[in-house]
Amino acid sequence: MEIKSAEFVISNTDVRKCPSGTMPEYAFIGRSNVGKSSLINMLTGRKGLAMTSSKPGKTLLINHFIINKSWYIVDLPGYGYAQRSTKEQGQIKHIIQSYVLERAQMTCLFVLIDSRHEPQAIDLNFIEWLGENGIPFAIIFTKADKLKSGKLNANVQQYLKKLSETWEELPPYFVTSSENRSGREELLAYIGQINKELKSNS
Ligand code: GTP
Ligand code: MG
Repeated sequence: MEIKSAEFVISNTDVRKCPSGTMPEYAFIGRSNVGKSSLINMLTGRKGLAMTSSKPGKTLLINHFIINKSWYIVDLPGYGYAQRSTKEQGQIKHIIQSYVLERAQMTCLFVLIDSRHEPQAIDLNFIEWLGENGIPFAIIFTKADKLKSGKLNANVQQYLKKLSETWEELPPYFVTSSENRSGREELLAYIGQINKELKSNS
């Protein structure tokens, strides 16, 4: 799929104030600093579209970007940033939960996992919660450029093995790098295919 246009639309703390209408949206979630905003910039080819930072906790709102005037990318705040105050952590948790559970337009939630690390309880618990709530999701392993291919493959396989302990069928997954743009075509093709199916069903 070609990205012809990508524009920022609005930031919200309240899911009820997000754009109305029926255009499908694809949201990006994961731990703070996992690379959500960088991935959005890499996918759209617009460097400063989503705000990124080397410090965790940059994105605090629900951010909508409209792509090709026909679907949305949504940048969400990260979970699991321990340096935040308890109050702020509670607010972020509420934003994430209400968006994920209430946003009818959300077609697929991409859960980002840092490819360098062993499976972490915080991500596994989040994925389990998605399952309990019947949320459609796919997994994106990020920062692939930081590992040699052997180690990268081993980590991905280890993750899939861990997931298969609880999931009968594994979710779709992608291996990406915002640094060298790997995984971009696959991810855009996946989104394009879903958009096509939605259109032919409507
Ligand atoms: P929050 O908004 O704080 O939750 O973080 P985020 O998940 O949006 O992460 P962000 O995109 O801001 O990236 C965090 C840091 O990781 C930045 O310093 C990025 O440059 C770096 N980073 C993100 N993706 C990649 C990648 O694919 N490769 C490398 N080497 N660095 C990356
Ligand atoms: Mg961010």
